[in-house]
Order: sequence, then structure tokens, then C-alpha cells
Amino acid sequence: MTDKYAVIGNPIAHSKSPQIHKMFRDQTGEDISYEAILAPPDGFASVVERLRKEGYKGCNVTVPFKFEASNIVSDISKESLDAFDAGHKADAVNTLVFRDEKIIGHNTDGIGLVRDITNNLHFEIAGKRVLLMGAGGAAYGVLHPLLDKQPKELVIANRTLEKAVQFKKTVEQTTQFLTTSISVSDYPALSGKQFDLIINATSSGLSGEMPPLPPGIFAPGALAYDMMYGRETPFMAFARAHGAAAVSDGLGMLVEQAAESFFIWRGVRPETRPVIAALQQQ
Ligand code: ATR
Repeated sequence: MTDKYAVIGNPIAHSKSPQIHKMFRDQTGEDISYEAILAPPDGFASVVERLRKEGYKGCNVTVPFKFEASNIVSDISKESLDAFDAGHKADAVNTLVFRDEKIIGHNTDGIGLVRDITNNLHFEIAGKRVLLMGAGGAAYGVLHPLLDKQPKELVIANRTLEKAVQFKKTVEQTTQFLTTSISVSDYPALSGKQFDLIINATSSGLSGEMPPLPPGIFAPGALAYDMMYGRETPFMAFARAHGAAAVSDGLGMLVEQAAESFFIWRGVRPETRPVIAALQQQ
């Protein structure tokens, strides 16, 4: 029998996840279906319950429900907390597994980002100076996998400094062996600094804006990575104009996080490159 999966979000019509998982299905021969489901702003938990009752095996969770998903996981099943590793640390969950009576939560966004940067873009994070812009859910979700790669320095920059300060505290409380020096900054204070990897985890691109980065921020050989996909953001254009050696949107991250979810659900790792290439053609 076909195993059912879905992605839940609001809005959801634009989601490329159904298309990606169908390509994974065709490639691996796994007998799955995958659909996009729109949940009302206050209706996430009841959609999850319905899917469970209908025998779905799991789902992806996207904006704006990733934080709420982490509550559902711990509320419904305390026992699953052991398996609730990456998601719990990030407090933002994008992958749910429905197993027996349990809901197990994971976050595959950070793994997706790191795989895209290291495997697809061939950029080594270890020992580098990294600037992470943003202190919302998107930034939280990728933080631990980034730190696992042991950059030399991580600066978290945010328009609202207090949120970055809180973010740093949470990281320090939830990370045992920190080899990276972590600091927070507002944008003006970045003046005169240089970074090897600059990641835009803000939602600024949605409104055609970018964080106010000073010119000269890109070190020689720097990679500029925007976690948004589907359009050239102002940050990407700025990076091209101000000396970044490579510029990427988040399409590869999207496919890599989907591949990790697929692996969690099916135990099979799909090939990501042909899928990224197919989406780039669109
Ligand atoms: P998400 O889940 O996408 O991270 P979020 O939790 O609302 O969404 O966080 C959005 C992030 O983008 C925040 O870090 C926000 O900065 P503030 O905390 O100061 O609001 C950042 N952001 C949004 N628009 C921005 C802009 N035009 N310039 C700089 N940062 C921006």
C-alpha cells in the first residue's frame, strides 16, 4: 500500500516540496504519495491529528508552523524526546514522523544548508568566519548543524539586537562543546569586518529588501548564501556587486533538506543533484 506524506503550511500553493518528493519517489521506486496541505493559522494541530488518524506516515512542516510543531511533538509524546534531537535544540521542527502513537520531530533545514554549502558548492566551513543574518525561526533552525562544522567565528547579526542576544544565550545553553567564538552584532557595527561565509536567514528578501550590510564585508573567496529561493534577492545582487566570490540562493538547501526528510522516513537516500538541476531549469 502507498505510504502517505504531506507538507503543511500557510501559504502552501507555491511549495516545491511535492514536486521534489515525487522526483525522489520516481528515482528510488519507494511507494509513497506526497501532497501540499493548507492549514488555517490556528488549525495546524488539528490537521496533524487528522493525518495521523488517516494513516499518514509523516509530514513536513513549513512557515508559519515550525515552532508550533516542536510543541506538538513534546506535548503528544514525551517518550519521543530522545529521538527529538535536532528539532528540540532548534525549537523549530520541519519533519514529523508518525510512528505507533508517537510523533517524532526533526529539523532537516540545517543539515540541508550545510550539505548544500559543503557538497554542492564545495565550500569548507571549518575554520571560517561566518556571518549569520537574522534571529528568527529560519536562523534557529540551521544553527547547530552550522556549529557542528566548527567555523572559527560566528557572528549573529540582527536588526533587533535583543533577539540576537537571546539567540546567543539559547545556543550557549544547548551546545555542549563550543569550539566557535560566537558574538552578536547589529548591522552598523559590522563596518570594517570581513567574513568568508555570509548567510541570509532573514525574511527581508520577501519584501525586496536586504539587511544594511557595509560594503567590504566579503573576504576574498567569500560565499554569499541566501536561504530564499526562486528569485535574485537584493542581498544576492549586493553580494555580486561587492566582491563575493560565489553567490547562491537556497534551492539546493531546499532539495537537501527534503532528501534528509525522505531518508528519515524511508531509510533511503535519494540523489539530490539531478533534482536540483531539474528545478534550476524551471
Ligand atoms: P523566519 O521564521 O523566516 O526566520 P521570523 O521569525 O519572523 O521569520 O524572523 C525574521 C527575521 O528576519 C528576523 O531576524 C528579522 O529581524 P528583526 O528580528 O529585527 O525583526 C529579519 N528581518 C526581516 N526583515 C528585515 C529587513 N528588512 N532587514 C533586516 N532584517 C530583517
